[in-house]
Amino acid sequence: MCGILGYTGHRESAEILLNGLEKLEYRGYDSAGLAVNDGENINVIKNKGRIKSLREKINNNLPGTCGIGHTRWATHGEPSDTNAHPLWSDDKSVVAVHNGIVENYKELKSFLGENGYKFYSQTDTEAAVKLLDYFYKRTKSPLNAITEAIKKIEGSYCFVILFKDFPDEVWGVRKDLPLIAGQGKDESFLASDVSAILQDTRQVYYLDNFEIVRLKKNDVRFFDETGHAKYKKLSTVTWDSQAAERGGFEHFMMKEIHEQARAVKDTFRSVFKNGEFDLSECNLDDESIRKISQIYVIACGSAYHAGYAAQYILEDLTGIPVRIELASEFRYRKMPLDKSALAIIISQSGETADTLAAMRLAKNHGIKTLAIVNVVGSTIAREADSVFYTLAGPEIAVATTKAYSSQLIACYILAVQFARAKNMIDEAKYKYFIDEIQKLPGKIDEILDEKERIRELAEKFVDSQNAFYLGRNIDYAVAMEGSLKMKEISYVHSEAIAAGEMKHGPISLIERGMLVTGIMTQKNLLPKIASNMLEAKSRGAFLLCIMMRGSEVLKDEADFVFQIPETEELFAATLAVIPLQLLGYYVAVARKLDVDKPRNLAKSVTVE
Ligand code: G6P
Repeated sequence: MCGILGYTGHRESAEILLNGLEKLEYRGYDSAGLAVNDGENINVIKNKGRIKSLREKINNNLPGTCGIGHTRWATHGEPSDTNAHPLWSDDKSVVAVHNGIVENYKELKSFLGENGYKFYSQTDTEAAVKLLDYFYKRTKSPLNAITEAIKKIEGSYCFVILFKDFPDEVWGVRKDLPLIAGQGKDESFLASDVSAILQDTRQVYYLDNFEIVRLKKNDVRFFDETGHAKYKKLSTVTWDSQAAERGGFEHFMMKEIHEQARAVKDTFRSVFKNGEFDLSECNLDDESIRKISQIYVIACGSAYHAGYAAQYILEDLTGIPVRIELASEFRYRKMPLDKSALAIIISQSGETADTLAAMRLAKNHGIKTLAIVNVVGSTIAREADSVFYTLAGPEIAVATTKAYSSQLIACYILAVQFARAKNMIDEAKYKYFIDEIQKLPGKIDEILDEKERIRELAEKFVDSQNAFYLGRNIDYAVAMEGSLKMKEISYVHSEAIAAGEMKHGPISLIERGMLVTGIMTQKNLLPKIASNMLEAKSRGAFLLCIMMRGSEVLKDEADFVFQIPETEELFAATLAVIPLQLLGYYVAVARKLDVDKPRNLAKSVTVE
């Protein structure tokens, strides 16, 4: 999510760090900062906003050859000068930048508070920096401070740290997020993304989880989590810098498709505490949940499709009536609104004009609003009564993938928690749902292992003019998203059809060889969708069936079967959508289209 850099060597570090941070700008960020050790002190300059303004603020006035840099994408605490990284201990003897989430930051803060520490920012990171300081003060050793601190820190992280008393050293450690060390001549580097250091070196080490690194200008050394020295193999990067920005993938969209397991896991972990979901930061305690008489889910585009799936799940699990509304329609409807309703507003950017207007309308009617938003500090996040942040990280490709998947997870969590609050499910069922959600990231990756099959299939349909996606219930919601993925990047006309509606018109469009994709994960509806698919087949359609492993329906009649791992049916959208994202992607690639920036589309639609 955020960008991280470290440098020690023979050159002035500020310029190198600023240049490196510029290479990470494409990832999206809301603030940036540097810390440089001038030999006596660590000086920090940081600001909300662009690297350009950081450069002006620094104005060649941050001397020293050993420093760290950061671009922040806010997760805890609004984008602001104070919350920007680097963050420091009270006497600035420990200064660090962080990528990831310190999940137990509240516990750490109270432990540190008991030991006299005070906090100046709203970030989770500050707790970790002060914990490092706490152990550093006791051990006087950077290595021991890090090994002790990571025993206590829960979550995902990549830390890059300066210790004032070691003016030519940069330290780093990672868990679940990338950190790369680079070796140049009389200088060495740390980066969260290899593209940031490629102009200076191609000789790199990839750190594994819990590995600790110490940089000196001519010495890069590694330690395991217990502090024992470790040998690591040097690798040479062969990618060009543009491919490196995309993590070696041909397009950002593919990179982001592969980031979905991580995005889902982070979103889950942000509210999962001690074996249960804790929605207190969304102001949703059990009592207020029990008072909800109606839910309106309001969104646009793919966020609407996530909401469309959510309506079935929320209704099924909670018994609360749910309406899914397109924001652009909702805002002009004159429908009677239920004051004890909850409006769930879903938006990746938090800036979509129609979604914002619809949310304001709901608020004006006295309806409580809960926003599921990806961008911290966005307008929708600021104006909503409460916010559930998805932790997809910045999304670059216009066609959303990981943000959509994170929105689904947020909806599952709400549904399961609401169901428990309303005593609709017992503890065993609650634990079962949690367990099933936790297994989704691994299953997403299993599907991605089979992406070549989808590529081969896509190449057969490179000249397609039309495609249909059929589904019922949650599968219909997935069909809508799959169809959108196809049309927005491949420019193939495609339609999502609630399978029962096919006979009411769309069937007349079916021609020989047309791709008809059936999403078939909902067991009780399998015979129904199977017969709709066969109606298409008998008119010459090519049938692609997305079904769960173990399902035998249409196995003989389908032209292509893609099986997803078995999962709780209510959460099947998360898995069923992956082959459909891949299909849209590979058809677009085969048609040599600009996958990441499709014509006429914008990532964030801030006008009506
Ligand atoms: C645009 C994007 C879509 C997105 C939609 C809603 O159309 O291309 O990917 O789903 O806007 O955006 P939001 O930021 O509100 O989720």
